[in-house]
Amino acid sequence: MKWIHAKDSHEMSRLAAEFMIQEVKKQPSMVLGLATGGTPVGTYQELIRDARENGTSYKAITTFNLDEYVGLAGTHPNSYRYFMQQQLFEHIDLPIEQTYLPNGEAKDLMAECQRYEELIARHGGIDLQLLGIGTNGHIGFNEPGTSFQSTTHVVTLTKDTREANARFFTSLEEVPTHAITMGIATIMKSKRILLLASGEEKADILYQLALGEVDEKVPASILKQHPDVTIIADTVALRRVKEQELCGLR
Ligand code: PGA
Repeated sequence: MKWIHAKDSHEMSRLAAEFMIQEVKKQPSMVLGLATGGTPVGTYQELIRDARENGTSYKAITTFNLDEYVGLAGTHPNSYRYFMQQQLFEHIDLPIEQTYLPNGEAKDLMAECQRYEELIARHGGIDLQLLGIGTNGHIGFNEPGTSFQSTTHVVTLTKDTREANARFFTSLEEVPTHAITMGIATIMKSKRILLLASGEEKADILYQLALGEVDEKVPASILKQHPDVTIIADTVALRRVKEQELCGLR
């Protein structure tokens, strides 16, 4: 894993966007894996700004998002489809029909999981997957204890995750109880992975990621076995890692 130290969340977003833009320029028809949550918002803003100022084009790009809530329509303001539309898709020249998220409203959720997995495979797999990390080490909605062999599946969200995400809803009760997520094996098949982390609340989990064993109790720990992972994290998120001076931070 390559660790990049950003001074603050702005620099993290700028470096992440530069990383992604470079890949898009190298492979204009690449498959991008995208993430929701608070962390990637600044990166998406940088991508939009760059597209406006420098004309970077996404017209041949295909995107797959990590996850989607079960039971929310794509038009629901808290659905991840809606989030992606607002935060990124509507502002760049990416054709909407080339953007994929699991369908959280599918009648047969198991079939939807299989369809999503096959769709990714049919597009040749993900070239670059953007990831956030939960304070409990989750990636996508793969909570602690999820099998490293898991493919796209339905998850019951933990209390911690629902509480963390309640900030986007008017009450905790409104946060869906289930989601569809790419599995850990799905994520690990991505050719490159870019993980972002910002804020003091990520300091403990980054420390565990840097020092801990590969263990299903910490889903992100599997990334240590991936050949091409870059982590861009800001100073406060790296506080505990740096205390240990374990990684070659720039
Ligand atoms: P956050 O979520 O970006 O809102 O901190 C990260 C995650 O849960 O993967």
